[in-house]
Amino acid sequence: MKEAVSILKSEHRSISAVLHALKELARMAHDATARPRFQVLRSMVRYIDQYPEKLHHPKEDQYLFARLVARAPETRLLVEELQAEHEEGARLIRELERALLFMEEGWPVGAREFRNAVEAYAEFHWKHMRKEEQQLLPLAERHLTPEDWKAIDAAFAANRDPIAGMQERDFEKLFSRIVALAPDPVGLGERWQGA
Ligand SMILES: [Fe+2]
Ligand SMILES: [Fe+2]
Repeated sequence: MKEAVSILKSEHRSISAVLHALKELARMAHDATARPRFQVLRSMVRYIDQYPEKLHHPKEDQYLFARLVARAPETRLLVEELQAEHEEGARLIRELERALLFMEEGWPVGAREFRNAVEAYAEFHWKHMRKEEQQLLPLAERHLTPEDWKAIDAAFAANRDPIAGMQERDFEKLFSRIVALAPDPVGLGERWQGA
C-alpha cells in the first residue's frame, strides 16, 4: 500500500475511534442521573474539530485531490463534493460546540439536542470517509503516477515537517488524554456516577 494511503486510512481510524467514543458518551450524558463530567466531551469535540481541520483535510485538498483532478479531470465532480463536505463538516462542528455549551450550562436540558447533533455529525463524517476510501482512493490508484505519489507520500508523512510534526504530537497527547478521561467502559476514567 502507498504510504500516503496507509496514513490517510490510519487518520480516518483515529477520527472514527473518537467519533465512536463521543457517540457513546453523548448517550451516557443523555441517560445520566448525575451530572456528567464535561471536560472529556470538550476534549473530544476539540479533537474532531481540529485534527481533520489542521492535519487531515489540508493534505487531502492540497495534494491528493489537486493532483488527481489535474491527471483525471473527470474526477472533478467527486473532488468538489468532498471539498464541499470539508466545509460542511466545519459548519456542523460549530453546531456541535454550541450544543455542548448549551448542555453544559443547563444539563440535563440540552442533552437530547447534543446527542442528536453528535449522531448527525458522526453519520456525516463516516459517510465522507467511506466515500474517500471507496470512491476516491481507487481512482487515485488508477490515475496518479509514481511521481505524483512521491509528492503525496512526502506531504502525508507530516511528521517530517517540524510544525506538522509538533501538531501531530499534540493530537497524540490529546488522544491519550481522551482515553484517560473517558469513563469506563469507553475509556480508562472513572465511571460517571449514576451513568
Ligand atoms: Fe476528507
Ligand atoms: Fe479523509
